[in-house]
Amino acid sequence: MKNILVIGAAGYIGSHTVRQLAAGGYHPVILDNLSKGHKEAVAGFDFEQGDFTDKACLERVLQKYDFAAVMHFAACTEVDRSVKDPATFYQNNTAGVLTLLTTMLAHNIKRFVFSSSAAIFGEPQADLINENHPTHPINPYGRSKLMVEKMLEDFDLAYGLKSAALRYFNASGSDESGEIGESHSPETHLIARLVQTAAGKQNGFTVFGTDYPTPDGTCIRDFVHVNDLARAHVLALAKLLNESASLRFNLGSGNGHSVAEVVATVQKITGQDFKVTHAPRRAGDPARLVADSTRAKEMLGWQPTYDLTRIIQTAWQWETHRKY
Ligand SMILES: NC(=O)c1ccc[n+]([C@@H]2O[C@H](COP(=O)([O-])OP(=O)(O)OC[C@H]3O[C@@H](n4cnc5c(N)ncnc54)[C@H](O)[C@@H]3O)[C@@H](O)[C@H]2O)c1
Repeated sequence: MKNILVIGAAGYIGSHTVRQLAAGGYHPVILDNLSKGHKEAVAGFDFEQGDFTDKACLERVLQKYDFAAVMHFAACTEVDRSVKDPATFYQNNTAGVLTLLTTMLAHNIKRFVFSSSAAIFGEPQADLINENHPTHPINPYGRSKLMVEKMLEDFDLAYGLKSAALRYFNASGSDESGEIGESHSPETHLIARLVQTAAGKQNGFTVFGTDYPTPDGTCIRDFVHVNDLARAHVLALAKLLNESASLRFNLGSGNGHSVAEVVATVQKITGQDFKVTHAPRRAGDPARLVADSTRAKEMLGWQPTYDLTRIIQTAWQWETHRKY
């Protein structure tokens, strides 16, 4: 059984992925400093508490197990905070990864799966964003992720380190078991905030911008279920371990849903007619962000299986029975 180091797996997407890794016959070992994650999310898995930017901590974990690959979910993720505090983002998301990659190489680990983001693309220049779309991130968060992708290209050429960079669009929903789910603080993601509002945990909901050039004037986004993303990781890892080539995939459902449509669907599914107010556009919110995931379908056989209704149903189930 191959050991896989999964950094940041006590968080939202990582905790869903370790379950699928284990189901797929891998042995995941988790490293997380619990700055944002939840120990309950990875109950029953081998867990090391520590900071991946700390070389001594990495050395300790890499000496303890023989790892076939590293999956890296850990990052600072709130876009607004990245504008106010870019130093923290570049330290954790970029400089920390340099420490991680050089330490991996010292242990002859040359397979890396990286949580990248649609934020590397910036303002879209096409209706559907594929892997050839230009990368002009418009905030420090997106730049911190793109810099890692550039570093990975150079590390492949110079040291033969093969990576899969997975650019997620809007991760959403929760595991069907009800045992794990999305729990960020503060919660900035649309569907998670909406189900919290429906549950009476947020005081009303604000839609930013109703004058976008879209059919109903609100922004359009691509929501992809967290378990579909988790499955893409297992598929990408298998390809990375079997073939010697670095990979880049844009991961979304390929369907755009407007914010107004998502609000209405949450109200319908939850039966809660919460208050919705309208406010001006926020800076840096493109009108439409929708993935073209053809490459992941063709190369990995990956196909998202959850539609918007099912995504919201699983998010609502978690919100009303959450464990952490
Ligand atoms: N959630 C989304 O919609 C989305 C979209 C695109 C990209 N991403 C990327 O996917 C990854 C996972 O996102 P998430 O929503 O699961 O985030 P999350 O905050 O739920 O999980 C991140 C985990 O990393 C841990 N962590 C952070 N810094 C660490 C450090 N220095 N050492 C050890 N552990 C550390 C946190 O404690 C947390 O458990 C992130 O890299 C994020 O940028 C997320």
